[in-house]
Amino acid sequence: MTPTSVLFIFLQLCCLQMMLVSMPTCKLPGRVVQNTHNLLRDLGEPFPVHCRQYNNQILFPDSALSSGSCRWTSLVVYESLRGAGLMFEEHELPEGEGRVTWDEQKLDNYLNLQDRLLSTCLQLNTTEASGVLSPYFSNVTAVVEQQASSSCGWEALRRDVLWVLNSALRKHRGCFNWTRAH
Ligand SMILES: *[C@@H]1O[C@H](CO)[C@@H](O)[C@H](O)[C@H]1NC(C)=O
Ligand SMILES: *[C@@H]1O[C@H](CO)[C@@H](O)[C@H](O)[C@H]1NC(C)=O
Ligand SMILES: *[C@@H]1O[C@H](CO)[C@@H](O)[C@H](O)[C@H]1NC(C)=O
Repeated sequence: MTPTSVLFIFLQLCCLQMMLVSMPTCKLPGRVVQNTHNLLRDLGEPFPVHCRQYNNQILFPDSALSSGSCRWTSLVVYESLRGAGLMFEEHELPEGEGRVTWDEQKLDNYLNLQDRLLSTCLQLNTTEASGVLSPYFSNVTAVVEQQASSSCGWEALRRDVLWVLNSALRKHRGCFNWTRAH
């Protein structure tokens, strides 16, 4: 490497550091979050009755959204979407008899918006929120990985992410960015 390229890399790291320090919070775009919520809601039927038997194995920590700070609300929303994103990346939706009956086009659109939201706040430090949500995601993963309960695991994930988006939009509306892009 030439000294110039070393300097160049050094300056880049420097800038990145500045960016991380100067953007402690990140406002998720409200309209995109609302559209993401609507797609998830319209993807399929409400939570199936036969899946209720797994409710005591999949308990979303509701209290995570009761505290008021916008920083924390954004983190919980972001981390829920990130956890859902990982689930979709690492596990196939069940097919055949125990399949989920979701609209494929809406699912595609949902996944696109989810990626878009995740790429808007890359600088968030999710360590703390991840700690709060990880027992939940391990439990959902366990249910999704069992063939007999897989579709119920996915339905529970959908129900819970929907709940997070809905609660955040209703109770913490001001925490989102409602400015239109030009
Ligand atoms: C995870 O599953 C265990 C065992 O079924 C249950 O006791 C626990 O409450 C669950 N935790 C969450 C966060 O779902
Ligand atoms: C992220 O937050 C955790 C806990 O709040 C902290 O221990 C860690 O140092 C932070 N990481 C960065 C890169 O700031
Ligand atoms: C809010 O969104 C607008 C339009 O996309 C953008 O220009 C602005 O920088 C955002 N503000 C914040 C605080 O993220």
